[in-house]
Amino acid sequence: MKDILQELESRRETARLGGGAARVAAQHGKGKLTARERIELLLDEGSFEEFDMFVAHRCTDFGMEQQRPAGDGVVTGWGTVNGRMVYVFSQDFTVFGGSLSETHAQKICKIMDMAMQNGTPIIGINDSGGARIQEGVASLAGYAEVFQRNIMASGVVPQISLVMGPCAGGAVYSPAMTDFIFMVKDTSYMFVTGPDVVKTVTNEVVTAEELGGATTHTRKSSVADAAFENDVETLAETRRLIDFLPLSNREKPPVRPFFDDVSRVEPSLDTLIPANAHTPYDMKELILKLADEADFFEIQAEFAKNILTGFIRLEGSTVGVVANQPTVLAGCLDIDASRKAARFVRFCDAFEIPLLTLVDVPGFLPGTAQEYGGVIKHGAKLLFAYGEATVPKVTVITRKAYGGAYDVMSSKHLRGDFNYAWPTAEIAVMGAKGAVEILYRSELGDPARIAERTRDYEARFANPFVAAEKGFIDEVIQPSLTRRRVCRAFASLRGKKQQNPWKKHDNIPL
Ligand code: HXC
Repeated sequence: MKDILQELESRRETARLGGGAARVAAQHGKGKLTARERIELLLDEGSFEEFDMFVAHRCTDFGMEQQRPAGDGVVTGWGTVNGRMVYVFSQDFTVFGGSLSETHAQKICKIMDMAMQNGTPIIGINDSGGARIQEGVASLAGYAEVFQRNIMASGVVPQISLVMGPCAGGAVYSPAMTDFIFMVKDTSYMFVTGPDVVKTVTNEVVTAEELGGATTHTRKSSVADAAFENDVETLAETRRLIDFLPLSNREKPPVRPFFDDVSRVEPSLDTLIPANAHTPYDMKELILKLADEADFFEIQAEFAKNILTGFIRLEGSTVGVVANQPTVLAGCLDIDASRKAARFVRFCDAFEIPLLTLVDVPGFLPGTAQEYGGVIKHGAKLLFAYGEATVPKVTVITRKAYGGAYDVMSSKHLRGDFNYAWPTAEIAVMGAKGAVEILYRSELGDPARIAERTRDYEARFANPFVAAEKGFIDEVIQPSLTRRRVCRAFASLRGKKQQNPWKKHDNIPL
């Protein structure tokens, strides 16, 4: 018996060494942790239970039968994050460059199936040279098996991808279909074709970092949702995100202990809106003042900064926030902002996370770039996402809500549950200047007359009361009391049940 136990321990020792000390040192030399070190930091101490530690590949080409390391380049299993269960896989770059073989894929699929059955999130740590070249089509088949599971899991359990090394070729499509992608600055990249192929085909000279590094994907492409300084910070922030999320679509979002006053009055909000309607102010200030303990987990902070998306807690419960940001492009909606917010709204709705929408929007951004880029179709994504969402929806209009953008931003007409406005709100088809120039074109030569017309228009429409008279605004509220009002609104909606008509699936304008 003792011998058998010794053999087990020695086999485990070998498996834990991955590709050996030299390759581990090389991994550390690049500033990267190993697959197992990452799992240790991601999960609660001592909570990791491993699956398939001794799985080895079955390839016999290219002399591969001579090297059959235990685990086959990926560490899989489950554990807890602050006591809540998650499944995880972590690719081991020290074993065949973390490349995906048939058996490597089977290990990932096994834990994805377990996560689906048990209703727990799937966290994938990607650090891989892609398809295991020696295995050819068997490896491609393995990827497709993972993809199929990503698709089936979408909207059922949260899926989070951490890209912590290379992720290239078709391999990018697994993270791409998950809910959130986090990257590590300087040590991770994602692209469909690398710099060499790009040079051959398009003659562009570009580095891997420029083509698919964390900065590119958080600022330009919006493929990634956040980028962090190093592995440790990325893993810590992943834990923080998981704390906001339900474990599956069968559960309500988690309620955590909170140490903030639900009725906290914020006198500074009464003066947040500048006297001049064209002067910007920082909407993030409002979000932080509404949130429990000013804790805001921002999603896509570096992309389409004219709209803010992220998670806060109110009375300990997770709420998704979408807010126009007047400091960037005056907070208008454009293609990027619509896409960013639409995806966020759909994530929240899929996982029963209530939505708080803070509105200060002068309209959609005009211009040929927007029209040619399909702002009609992209703007419709956000409209569609809000309209189909059945989660509790609370909206606060702080200042402008003009035109189609008023309708889009979780208006009453899109089944908003509580639609509040601050007294500073201006709800109209357009701003006074534009309206007067259209309505009184013949008087444009008379500045005094136009000024009078503008004043009349402002007096009639630059307020929330026309909308309130019609019941489109449920109440005009005092800014300093917004936290209390919004918390009470969400509390009253805890039992909300609303169903869309049966359909196979909708046809959101993609
Ligand atoms: C088998 C691989 C591998 C792969 C790397 N290795 N990629 N083994 N299949 N795809 C091995 C190397 O042989 C090496 O083994 C070890 O991993 C580390 O690789 P290095 O090249 O020494 O590391 P580095 O210099 O850091 O470069 C990393 C890299 C490079 C940029 C990822 O390895 C690379 O370009 N690999 C090939 C990438 C690729 O073209 N993959 C196929 C993409 S197509 P030793 O024994 O020396 O340690 C694809 C299709 C997916 O993935 C389709 C899905 C539908």
